[in-house]
Amino acid sequence: MDLLDSIGGLSVDQFMRRHWQRAPLLVRGALPGFVSPIEPARLFDLAASEDVESRTVSVSGGRWTLAHGPFDRLPPRRRPGWTLLVQGVDLHDDAVAALMARFRFVPDARVDDLMISFATDGGGVGPHVDQYDVFLLQARGTRRWRIAPPAQGRGAVPALVPDVPLKLLADFEPTQEWLLEPGDMLYLPPGWGHEGTAVGECMTFSIGFRAPSRQEFLAAFLATAADEPGGPDPRFSDRGRAATVAPARLPEDLTERLRDWALDWRPSAARVDRFIGCWMTEPKAQVWFDTPAPLSPVRFERAATRDGLRLDRRTRMAWRGGTVFINGEAHDVPVAARRWLRRLADRRLLAAAECPRALAAPGVAAMLVGWHDAGWLRLGAAPAPPSPSP
Ligand code: SIN
Ligand code: CO
Repeated sequence: MDLLDSIGGLSVDQFMRRHWQRAPLLVRGALPGFVSPIEPARLFDLAASEDVESRTVSVSGGRWTLAHGPFDRLPPRRRPGWTLLVQGVDLHDDAVAALMARFRFVPDARVDDLMISFATDGGGVGPHVDQYDVFLLQARGTRRWRIAPPAQGRGAVPALVPDVPLKLLADFEPTQEWLLEPGDMLYLPPGWGHEGTAVGECMTFSIGFRAPSRQEFLAAFLATAADEPGGPDPRFSDRGRAATVAPARLPEDLTERLRDWALDWRPSAARVDRFIGCWMTEPKAQVWFDTPAPLSPVRFERAATRDGLRLDRRTRMAWRGGTVFINGEAHDVPVAARRWLRRLADRRLLAAAECPRALAAPGVAAMLVGWHDAGWLRLGAAPAPPSPSP
């Protein structure tokens, strides 16, 4: 499936300049000929799996209930007012991953996941804001969307309804409203209030984009700071200390030493940059790769030059300068090998005809066979597109 080349009559460049992080956009018939690549029954199966993050939200008589999966049983389809939300469907379904790849005009590092919701009539998750950019693509049935601009004022935090298991906006005053039909799509920047309500049974895809906050990044980075590579790990010592008569008092020498360790600690830019690449490509906690039978380098090269290579749909790969990052690992790559690994990362595949030259580049064959054996890289062309039923 190809990259989207236009969004509602705008080129993707125009869309990025005018709307991305700035203003909502409703697009009728966003993906011509669009048919949902996934049926509700498949979504229900995914929601029964321990490896899949899912939840239900029900509303009845103004009362909201939230439950977390996995779900052996879901409420009956004839019961109105409930929603099933399944996160990360792109990790479990090649056709859904291919649909998400159409949005790769935004860098992979910004991509979070593709969530799918199934709702019965009147179902929804209530008025709320997300910190994510999101494309809300209507996949089946009809949904009413109502939206409201972000709370005014720098750092304004919208008030929430107390005593409900969801973060519902207390003062939701929608300024625009639409009915979305299959193939229609609504782009929302972070911070916009929104409420989607199913009109009859419906399914909605949320293609969500993450943006790390300073606190999230520093918490993750500082957690790794303790693993300073190289050199002995100095330890506090107080040989010669005089006996104390105030045993609860924090020793001044201890405080000073630890404070100095903290204040003197300054990571190099190279170290921070390396961490960023690893962190950005770290798979989510619930991601598991299926490992194939390992191949000898000779058999791997023979199969790759015959069938080509493609990244597994769960693999996160990125590059910056001479470093390639894959699933949380960093690899420094010789100059002659860079273009092949960058190409693999950008296109997520190497065609069979490219493989002889790619595998001859220094270090590449060993890297690729290792990634194949880990289940990160697959032999063969992209999986055949499914033939979904409307
Ligand atoms: C939904 O699909 O019901 C909720 C999506 C969202 O509001 O982000
Ligand atoms: Co939302």
